[in-house]
Amino acid sequence: MNQVVATTELNTVFEECLILKQELIDGLCAKEKYINPKFFYDEMGSQLFEKIMQLPEYYPSRTEMSLLEKYKHEIAEALGENIVLIEPGAGNCEKVQCILQTLKPKCYMPIDISAGFLFECARKLQTKFPFIKIHAVADDMKAKVEIPDAFKNNNKVIFYPGSTIGNYKPNEALDFLEHVKDLVGKGGGLLIGVDLQKDKEILDAAYNDEHGITALFNLNALKHANKLLDCKIDTNLFEHVAFYNEDQCRIEMHLESKTEHAYNIDNVSRVCFSEFERIHTEYSYKYTIESFSNMAEKAGLKLEKYWIDDNELFSVQYYKVG
Ligand code: TRP
Repeated sequence: MNQVVATTELNTVFEECLILKQELIDGLCAKEKYINPKFFYDEMGSQLFEKIMQLPEYYPSRTEMSLLEKYKHEIAEALGENIVLIEPGAGNCEKVQCILQTLKPKCYMPIDISAGFLFECARKLQTKFPFIKIHAVADDMKAKVEIPDAFKNNNKVIFYPGSTIGNYKPNEALDFLEHVKDLVGKGGGLLIGVDLQKDKEILDAAYNDEHGITALFNLNALKHANKLLDCKIDTNLFEHVAFYNEDQCRIEMHLESKTEHAYNIDNVSRVCFSEFERIHTEYSYKYTIESFSNMAEKAGLKLEKYWIDDNELFSVQYYKVG
C-alpha cells in the first residue's frame, strides 16, 4: 500500500512573521491602501469562507463541485490515464475528491502553505485512496515542484479549481499560466475552474449576501491585521463594499472608512484613514470561455475541452501544452 509522503520547504516561523507584518504595514501606509487577500484566511476567516460557500447567493463553489461530479468520466477521459495530478493551494483537498476515484491518477500532489492541516488531509486521503500515491508538499504556490522519481515520465496535470485564477490581475494570471506550462512541460495539462461573466445583479448578490457573512469575511482581513501587528484599528469604523466593475470585468472588494481616524503601528508607522477612504482587499475577475482561452493561448496552453452548467454560471476548462 502507498504511504503518504510529506516535504516542507518553509521559512522559519519568525522570518515569516516579520515578512507578513511588513507586508501589512506597506499596504496600510500606501497611497492607495490595500491588504493582500491572503490575510482573509486566519482561523476565523477560513470558517467564514466555509459559510460563504453555503450561501444561496454564492454560486461558484457549489456549481464547480456539481460540474466536477457530473462530468468526472469525461474529465478522466480527457486527462488520460496514469497521470501525476498536482494541486497548488489544495487546502482541505475537498474538490479533488469528486474526480479522484474516476481519474485514478498514479500520484496526487497537493501543495499548500499550511503544513499541519495539509499533512492531516493527505493522510486521510491516502487511507481513502490506497491505490494512489499521495505526495503532499508544504510550500507556496509558486514553488518549483519536485516530482517523485518514480513518476518523472508520467504526464503531469495541474488542478486549479475555485476560480482562484480570477483573483489574479490579468498580467499575473498570464504569469501563472506560463508557470503552469513550464511546470507540466510537454504532454502536460491544466484542469482549471473559471468563473464566468454574467448579469451584474447575480454577481453583486454573490458578494453581498443579505446575512452579512461576506461583510464579516472582508472585515476579518482587518481584524487579522490587527492581531498580527498588535494594533487596534477600529473595524466598526469600516464598511464592506463589493461591486461588479463592468469595464474591468471584475468584482472589487474594499473596506471603506466611515470617518476620519488614525493609529500608531509598532511605534514607528502611523496610519491615517479619511472619511470614505478605501482599503482594497481583493479582485475577482470574471471571464468568458473565449477571453480566458485567448489568455491561456498566449501562455502556450491550448483549450481541449470545457464544461459549463445549464445556467452558464461557471466553467471547468481543460488545457494542454502545445
Ligand atoms: N476568492 C473568493 C472569490 O473571489 C473570495 C471571496 C468570496 C470574497 N466572497 C468574498 C472576498 C467577499 C472578499 C469578500 O470569490
